[in-house]
Amino acid sequence: MVPRRQEYGANRAGGARSGPLLNFRTTVNSGTVRRSSAVLPSVLTFLVIVASGGLLLMIEKGMLNSMETPPPRGHGRRLDFIRQAGKHSSAEVDVESQILQEIRNRTIRTMCSHKNMPHSIWSLSPVQRKTLLQHILVNDKYRFLYCYVPKVACSNWKRVLKVLSGALENVDVNIKMDHRSDLLFLASLKPDEIRYRLKHYFKFMFVREPMERLLSAYRNKFGEIESYQKKYGVEIIKRYRKGRAKDTSVTGDDVTFAEFVHYLLDEDVERMNEHWMPVYNLCQPCAVSYDFIGSYEHLESDAEFVLHQVRAPSDVHFPERQTWYKPVTTETLHYYLCSLPQWLLRELLPKYILDFSLFGYPLPNTTTEHCRH
Ligand SMILES: *[C@@H]1O[C@H](CO)[C@@H](O)[C@H](O)[C@H]1NC(C)=O
Ligand SMILES: *[C@@H]1O[C@H](CO)[C@@H](O)[C@H](O)[C@H]1NC(C)=O
Repeated sequence: MVPRRQEYGANRAGGARSGPLLNFRTTVNSGTVRRSSAVLPSVLTFLVIVASGGLLLMIEKGMLNSMETPPPRGHGRRLDFIRQAGKHSSAEVDVESQILQEIRNRTIRTMCSHKNMPHSIWSLSPVQRKTLLQHILVNDKYRFLYCYVPKVACSNWKRVLKVLSGALENVDVNIKMDHRSDLLFLASLKPDEIRYRLKHYFKFMFVREPMERLLSAYRNKFGEIESYQKKYGVEIIKRYRKGRAKDTSVTGDDVTFAEFVHYLLDEDVERMNEHWMPVYNLCQPCAVSYDFIGSYEHLESDAEFVLHQVRAPSDVHFPERQTWYKPVTTETLHYYLCSLPQWLLRELLPKYILDFSLFGYPLPNTTTEHCRH
């Protein structure tokens, strides 16, 4: 477990003073950490230690697969549920998912108890609160709140919400998803109504490996969506491609992944487009105490767990993946990350450090040896 931490620490200490540390400041540049920058080094050290936690590496190496693990304490209910559901191919996956839940839960509790982290939505800045409230969907019938994260199966969750509120007949109805209509956002309620729901409703969100989410956003938006090519692509190319600053023929339809990453480095995390804004900023897991944080890697079982928790009718299921859906494979991600100049990746990671550390994702290996494989 030590090499990862050392490697990362060494990068910070040696050389690039303008790199990770500075960028980290913009990551959490809310009213929270900026106010007392003295606390920054200790928070950062802590984050890196957490992100490189030994357990995570063990999981990565598959060491836990051969180990007998006692059921985690807090989550008996979930384990029982998984056992009852009994439709999982291997018990090992359940144990791994279970341990990840536990790590995520403890990490969030520990890190969020730090006095510089926000402890309620009312201690967020107006910009932060606005973003958060615009990302929380409300269902009053089943009394739950769902913080949606683009590129983490959010269209499918929106379908489920529409079925639960009676606006859609079933989750498989083949219509283009309207991301606004028939959905109730927490932002449209009054402070008292917001307070009540945050206190009494079941609150959940879903996370995904941060770089995989970025790649998915990049491939979808810049590969397929003309409005994004016009709105962001043109600007990115003018800014980052040599000799194109004043070129009026730029169409923005061929942004490279490296140019996209360059652009991300220069953007303020609090004002980013929601497709690449860190999950931390979208859902504020310290200001809202979520009852459950599911992951894209265990989407089906985590989604069924949520539906069970909110007592959704038993005929409402999470939609199957569409047949045309192209997942980001490990190989694709490796290919794209290794196609980047390594310094670019190393500067990018601190911007998403809270998504890695709070949600239990190990930092990607950015060494040249690793990319040779
Ligand atoms: C990165 O990958 C290389 C080659 O696979 C390996 O030797 C090295 O230990 C890895 N570093 C970390 C920090 O995991
Ligand atoms: C963390 O664990 C506590 C205690 O078991 C539980 O009440 C809470 O819902 C869990 N939170 C998450 C996000 O899993």
